[in-house]
Amino acid sequence: MASEARGTFDFVVAANRLPVDRVTEADGTSRWQASPGGLVTAMDAVMQGQSAAWVGWAGDPGEDVAPFDRDGIRLHPIVLTADEVRGYYEGFSNETLWPLYHDVIVPPRYRRSWWASYQRVNTRFAEAIAKVAAPGATVWIHDYQLQLVPALLRALRSDLRIGWFNHIPFPPVELFGQLPWRRAVLRGLLGADFLGFQRSNDAANFTRACHQLLGTSSSGDTITWSGAEDGLIGAEPRRTRTATVPISIDFRSMDELARTPEVRRRAREIRASLGNPQTVLLGIDRLDYTKGIRHRLRAISELFGDGAIAAPEVTLLQIATPSRERVSAYQDLRSQVDGQVGRINGDHSGIGATAVHYLHHSYPKEEMAALFQAADVLLVTPLRDGMNLVAKEYVASRWDGGGALVLSEFTGAAQELSQAFLCNPHDIAGLKETILAAMREEPASARKRMLAMRRRVRSHDVHAWAQHYLSALEAAPQKPIRR
Ligand code: F6P
Repeated sequence: MASEARGTFDFVVAANRLPVDRVTEADGTSRWQASPGGLVTAMDAVMQGQSAAWVGWAGDPGEDVAPFDRDGIRLHPIVLTADEVRGYYEGFSNETLWPLYHDVIVPPRYRRSWWASYQRVNTRFAEAIAKVAAPGATVWIHDYQLQLVPALLRALRSDLRIGWFNHIPFPPVELFGQLPWRRAVLRGLLGADFLGFQRSNDAANFTRACHQLLGTSSSGDTITWSGAEDGLIGAEPRRTRTATVPISIDFRSMDELARTPEVRRRAREIRASLGNPQTVLLGIDRLDYTKGIRHRLRAISELFGDGAIAAPEVTLLQIATPSRERVSAYQDLRSQVDGQVGRINGDHSGIGATAVHYLHHSYPKEEMAALFQAADVLLVTPLRDGMNLVAKEYVASRWDGGGALVLSEFTGAAQELSQAFLCNPHDIAGLKETILAAMREEPASARKRMLAMRRRVRSHDVHAWAQHYLSALEAAPQKPIRR
């Protein structure tokens, strides 16, 4: 393990989680394993060759782990107590901000003790970054769990270039205004030089919230905040640029993986295990109430009920990845989905003719690529989603030009993948029609749609995203020079 250095890293990433997970073996020993996320791939590409550090939580409560090096990157674990996991992570991040930022699909809970915990943990992150960052370093902070870090960090280290990216939606001020600590959150974010959002509406919502709740002024996409609104006499006006920088995936590696003989063989095997149906419908989601799984199941149930589809010719394979299992809204959702699937199968399955195959597991990339290829139609029906990378991964896996994508209008991905079969998941009748249209599309025009979507994701991949973000951060508050 390398000894702790102070202030030597030119590029620092801060995210709630480290890019590695702690895995405990059967014999009780533990090791670090790279986590599969897209963010890790993107950051890896920009961190290689630089003196770079990643500050994040190791994922377990109370683990005091010393900083260590992995693949040339310094990993700097943040320790959370069990109380902080409850207050900062499960509570404020996932029971307050998550539902508030996703259209209050479930009611957000506003608890003062969770807010105190969020402030404490954000301060710990800011202190850790201040300690590892070299003079003039670039710091890229990620997501809603760390919204106070930009201003806290600037107070400690005014020499740093600070950016923040929101992976989830930013809500309209009419909803954001519910947050008792709304001004503190906005002030936290305005500590950054550059704020990146998934959709132009997210950036506009943020700017409007700053204007209405802090009295800031803005010109184009730059917000000016004098601090006078908060009674800070003599405070220097600060300018923060906001822009839309939609995240993407590593198109090439997904495409290459999907072309391997092993994945292609596995895709055939999956179809055969399902009884070689005419149509395989697929859903792959984190088991989260934002994903619209219940609406999707309702539409599928009615399609079986109407006789528009029937097993075994048509089957739905629904994969629900376990997520935030200690939070009650997620426990409730699990019971509801379990119940819905049980009911659909009770009503519409036969022996050897299963209507819905439901798996509550997570799968490695190889299996995902095979599942994508085995599917005729992927159903992505969130009620609200910052981006939805599953939709982009599906597109990247379909090197054969096959498959169709049903995609909710309420995802960031819908802004880019306009050739998908777009749907409003609240409109069950419309959703049913869209699913049928995707199933019945002529192969030639389905192929045209898929190839157009592939062109988009290929040219706007995760590497382009990271480069775009970093050049905007470098130039902020000016716009970067277009090349
Ligand atoms: O941006 C949404 C996000 O926080 C991702 O960063 C993460 O992969 C996903 O939700 C799951 O969240 P958690 O870290 O809470 O399991």
